[in-house]
Amino acid sequence: MLNFSFVNPTQIHFGEGQISSLTSSIPQDAKVLVVYGGGSIKKNGVYEQVSNALNAHTWGEFAGIEPNPSYQTCMQAVAMVREQGYDYILAVGGGSVIDGCKFIAAAALFDGEPWDILGKGAEVKSALPLGVVLTLPATGSESNSFSVISNKDTNDKLPFATTLVQPQFAVLDPDVMKTLPERQLANGVVDAFVHTMEQYLTYPVNAKVQDRFAEGLLLTLMEEGPSVFGQDVSYEVRANVMWSATMALNGLIGAGVPQDWGTHMIGHELTAVYGLDHAQTLAIVLPRMMEEQKEPKRDKLLQYAQRVLGLDTSDPDAAIEQAIAKTEAFFHSVNMPTRLRDYGLGEEVADKIVAQLERHGMTALGEHQSVTLDKSRNILLRSV
Ligand code: NZQ
Ligand code: ZN
Repeated sequence: MLNFSFVNPTQIHFGEGQISSLTSSIPQDAKVLVVYGGGSIKKNGVYEQVSNALNAHTWGEFAGIEPNPSYQTCMQAVAMVREQGYDYILAVGGGSVIDGCKFIAAAALFDGEPWDILGKGAEVKSALPLGVVLTLPATGSESNSFSVISNKDTNDKLPFATTLVQPQFAVLDPDVMKTLPERQLANGVVDAFVHTMEQYLTYPVNAKVQDRFAEGLLLTLMEEGPSVFGQDVSYEVRANVMWSATMALNGLIGAGVPQDWGTHMIGHELTAVYGLDHAQTLAIVLPRMMEEQKEPKRDKLLQYAQRVLGLDTSDPDAAIEQAIAKTEAFFHSVNMPTRLRDYGLGEEVADKIVAQLERHGMTALGEHQSVTLDKSRNILLRSV
């Protein structure tokens, strides 16, 4: 096991009716800016529950954070925070709203041009406190310190990370999932699955606890993921999917193990250039990354094949082929396409995305930094 320091300070309020816990989770004297997206929270009762819980607080609202939150929109919220003196941010939404709020919380107190936080990795020295009401289980953003922001003018989609923007608390009520469109439910299951794979499918370091936790998450997502669609979904299925997504990227399974994230870096470029949903890009890239990295990932691929998929590994090469095919079949089982051509895209994608990767310095991806631009090009060409 590798050395690590681990803390996850986000308090989780999990379960039905927990939105009411906002009343006591946010300091009474805070001036709260409630930030949300395109308005889904106004149709499903979440907005009403939030306003009831904040009845005795002073608060205002900022609407319109879009999927793949833009720097441009976030800066409008930053102006509002500065002009009106808000000192607490409450994100109500999915990963995009939460990521946007992390950037707003940091940018509001940033001395200088806030884009530098993303474009130049400028140090964040302070941030406003942040709380979350999660409406879409997928990214894990509700209890981690990462954020990904897009600049629509320049086709940049760039991450930043600081514990200063880690949410103080997150409310996870599985009932909010009832109004999620099937496309977003599938996105959530696939994103959580791929987050787990990015931290599990590398090379063994004898980290038994992390491996078994990761395998538990993969199994849960494979068992419950396909059942999360439709009208008659049980509370238990929703609860298990929601908690898996949070646990997949809250730091726990990634502590003390090598991590990959190559699929994500290529995926972010596909979103920046072609506008595909985040998880749609992952379902295309991951199976091809597994093929390309078959040798360096061999031991873990066999472990995955045996323990998660229950495959016979007496013929290791055949087992690895089957494991990759079954991973892709799992994505299909939640109605998630796995090819560029499913979105009308073809070989032209390779040059464009490789140029983006080069521009962003993503020239040595993966746990061994061995995924060169040529390998990324192969992955993309094979993804057609
Ligand atoms: O905007 P509203 O009206 O809320 O609608 C949203 C949006 O259109 C809708 N939605 C959310 N909850 C709903 C709902 N519709 C009905 N009922 C509900 N309960 O869903 C749509 C998509 O929302 P979005 O927040 O964009 O999705 P997701 O949670 O998948 O977030 C994706 C973003 O997170 C980033 C991605 O790159 C992408 O920008 N990621 C963030 C990470 C992190 N911070 O750790 C890690 C991830 O790997 C990822 O990169
Ligand atoms: Zn992701």
